[in-house]
Amino acid sequence: MSVLLIAGSPSERSRSAGLLDAVQDLLTAARRPVDRLLIRDLSPKALLLAGTSHRSIQLAVDAVAAATAVVVATPVYKAAYSGVLKVFLDLLPQSALAGKVVLPLATGGSPHHMLALDYALRPVLQSLAARHILPGVYVTDSQFAQGPDGVYHLSPDMQLRLEGAVATLCAESFRQQATTGFEPVPFSRVRCSV
Ligand SMILES: Cc1cc2nc3c(=O)[nH]c(=O)nc-3n(C[C@H](O)[C@H](O)[C@H](O)COP(=O)(O)O)c2cc1C
Repeated sequence: MSVLLIAGSPSERSRSAGLLDAVQDLLTAARRPVDRLLIRDLSPKALLLAGTSHRSIQLAVDAVAAATAVVVATPVYKAAYSGVLKVFLDLLPQSALAGKVVLPLATGGSPHHMLALDYALRPVLQSLAARHILPGVYVTDSQFAQGPDGVYHLSPDMQLRLEGAVATLCAESFRQQATTGFEPVPFSRVRCSV
């Protein structure tokens, strides 16, 4: 099982990327291979002008294809996810997340827009055919402390929430691999009692 961590903030010092640092530490401790994709490192021109043949975009699309599980972290911008995340997701093939387990994460200035995870990001991940989108984790800026090195650290209660989410991610991704080959049941054979 390999996990791709996608950082969707345009900022260099990023709280949502700080969430991915914590996820990466947890996955590394669990001996899961981790790869990281910073959308801000991709060619801005290729992102904005749909340059799917640009090398940085091709490598990023390949990284998504190679992953068993994907963790997407974004800041909330104007009550939704970031624009740079959207332009990247728009460049993915229609079924780019097929068969994959996805964990959405978001940070926001206040709790008021926590539903952006479910109302804005989740439908997009669903449209990319994600097999299983796990319950997201939303963290407000006040739940971070910034160390002297500029790195963001999570409050203990949110660290616990994240540990639970990562444990679920590992369990669900493993379960999915174990059941690969399960025959889908045709709708005509589905019986219900209503
Ligand atoms: C352009 C912009 C728009 C924002 N819009 C919202 C918003 O609508 N709701 C909210 O709760 N926070 C909003 N914020 C605050 C960020 O979501 C918050 O600071 C977040 O943790 C930043 O994440 P990052 O450091 O990973 O970029 C906005 C910040 C910026 C720069």
